[in-house]
Amino acid sequence: MKLKMALTAVLTDATVQIHFKDRCSNYVTTTTLEIVISESQIQEAVARLAQLIQTDYKDQPLLVVGVLHGSFVFLSDLIRQMQLPIQVDFVRLSSYDEATETSGVVRLHHGVRTPVEGKNILVVEDIVDTGLTAKFLREYFEDLDAATFRICALLDKPVRRRTPVTVDYVGFEVPDQFLVGYGLDYNQRYRELRAVYSLDPQTDGS
Ligand code: PRP
Repeated sequence: MKLKMALTAVLTDATVQIHFKDRCSNYVTTTTLEIVISESQIQEAVARLAQLIQTDYKDQPLLVVGVLHGSFVFLSDLIRQMQLPIQVDFVRLSSYDEATETSGVVRLHHGVRTPVEGKNILVVEDIVDTGLTAKFLREYFEDLDAATFRICALLDKPVRRRTPVTVDYVGFEVPDQFLVGYGLDYNQRYRELRAVYSLDPQTDGS
């Protein structure tokens, strides 16, 4: 397996360029990511969504469920902006594997450990795309006798829907571009970036 090392990340207002050096051959490739949503826009949206959620649930207890892996950055920012009695748990699902297109079959790898019966559930997603994951989770929590079920997604890509779903809290509606950063990955890369960028998987050099 070739190991690649990120050499530099040059930030401008609009792009980040990441140069990768192949440790075996010294071959250097560059990936250019175009900014779609800035760090400050994200933080404004997080504060807005946290306020909405807090107002809706008032002082009711809430079980916040993050969908691994993409939601972990958004979830950790969101819960620190809310003043509510919350519990946090995670589920791990997959439908994309290494592909950029969903297989259409959602698989549950790890469910919640926290008791769900009679609780208000808020699922936190980085992105709702086809809606298949959201549909799966609604049925999963209904089967576990949750009292209420809502979804909060930083990004919503309604043009890609394959099934109708209600996304109760949306940060940004986005067009059909491949997006990375702030939790979203391409081949497990770029999750750590503070903003959301578009990437062309055909030309990605990482
Ligand atoms: C992404 C994202 C959502 C799901 C949404 O997860 O984090 O969970 O896809 O897609 P859908 O609306 O088409 O069902 P992914 O399977 O890429 O895993 P990851 O979060 O670990 O990157």
